[in-house]
Amino acid sequence: MRTHPWTITTLNEAGFGVGQTGGRFVAVARTAPGDVVVTGPLASRERWTHAALVQVVKPGPDRVTPPCPAFERGCGGCQWQHLSYPAQAAWKEKTLAGVLRGRGGFTGKLNALVLSATEGYRNKLSLKNENGRAVFVPEFEGTLSPAECRVQTAALQKAWAFLRTQRLPRGVDQIHLRSNELGQVGVHVFANRHGTAGFEILRLIPGFVGAGVTLPTKTGPAVHPIGGGTYQVWGGDAYLRQSVTVAAENGPSPAGALGSGPRQLSYLVPHNGFYQTNETQASALLDVVRREVGQKGRLLDLYCGSGFFALALADLFDEVVGIEVNAHSVEAARQSALLSGVKKAQFLVGDLGAVLAQLAPAKDEVAVIDPPREGLLPQALAALTERAPRRLVYVSCYPVSLARDLKRLAAAGWKARSCTPVDMFPHTSHVEAVLTLER
Ligand SMILES: C[S@@+](CC[C@H](N)C(=O)[O-])C[C@H]1O[C@@H](n2cnc3c(N)ncnc32)[C@H](O)[C@@H]1O
Repeated sequence: MRTHPWTITTLNEAGFGVGQTGGRFVAVARTAPGDVVVTGPLASRERWTHAALVQVVKPGPDRVTPPCPAFERGCGGCQWQHLSYPAQAAWKEKTLAGVLRGRGGFTGKLNALVLSATEGYRNKLSLKNENGRAVFVPEFEGTLSPAECRVQTAALQKAWAFLRTQRLPRGVDQIHLRSNELGQVGVHVFANRHGTAGFEILRLIPGFVGAGVTLPTKTGPAVHPIGGGTYQVWGGDAYLRQSVTVAAENGPSPAGALGSGPRQLSYLVPHNGFYQTNETQASALLDVVRREVGQKGRLLDLYCGSGFFALALADLFDEVVGIEVNAHSVEAARQSALLSGVKKAQFLVGDLGAVLAQLAPAKDEVAVIDPPREGLLPQALAALTERAPRRLVYVSCYPVSLARDLKRLAAAGWKARSCTPVDMFPHTSHVEAVLTLER
């Protein structure tokens, strides 16, 4: 059953267009405020009543032609291709402000969103083998052509275009690809019980510099490297090199004390480890954290991954300690420190709460905290509270857990000073935020 035309008036916290029809608030994917729409039958899901979009009768002022042609054909990789970038940015700022002030009690200064390039930014791609064809994993199973996905880097578009011309070997389950700013492509294959026959085609992927294969074995998955080139391989794992530009200037420091001009840093990233997926925005995120973090004493880089913040901020501190649960990422961070000539950083493997509780305190500590979506778990919060670093720079990809942790940190004696949102995921409703707290 179709509705009569009705009007979308706002966006909800999940990024869906919302309006009132038949006396109810209804959420509709792929709509924008001001759109006059016809929708299908109502369905209750989670806290909202939803309806599918049937037709946009009259577009609202924020509706634009999606940059990716695939969006119109149903690709669900990005949620907001139909929404103008200024409207996306305004929603992110407003939503973050609402969550932080409402749930977190934030009264500090909220800065403007740091904007991103909106195309060619995503350096990670997952494909799966469907009857010998490489298909795009996120939600869309149609015949998506790589040129239709404008958010991927050019290197990944080329790699994907090549794979679509190939018949994938039976043993390939999924192929994960990652690119760097040199256009190099690292590949990781999840193999199945059919084995690795025919895997040589991976070497023909444009930009290929190496691959790892996770094989199912009786004792659990084992990783085997293929290829070599500039792809770094050791300890049974494969690492792609990424680099970022780090601004050497740091606001209030004495003139000349920190050197001048930007620096290039190299990171090795394991296939199964976290690395910033927005190639062009990683440096912008670093700039914000660098401005906020201060200097001198010991920097704790908590949830450090491959040492992204630790290595880029080491010049500001007397000592840096990174803590991370993924042993491959920690190995990568140690190797990257050698590569980048950073001598005063050490990296510890293990659960954050447990490792932090064991680490001998230093007199003067500040911490960068960049946890996964769930935020700080109780043991981590307890260990942090116990040692009480004078400043925290909390990098969060989920405002709800950030607001919850802000309340807890405020109760433990920190005061939130400022927050800067950084757009790491254009065309999605995800918001990254850098919150600075002091005690
Ligand atoms: C959002 S990523 C941030 C990584 C890094 N700061 C960066 O920018 O590349 C979160 C990291 O936390 C790590 N992690 C997750 N749970 C953890 C835990 N309990 N203890 C330590 N590290 C953990 C993940 O492996 C991941 O590398």
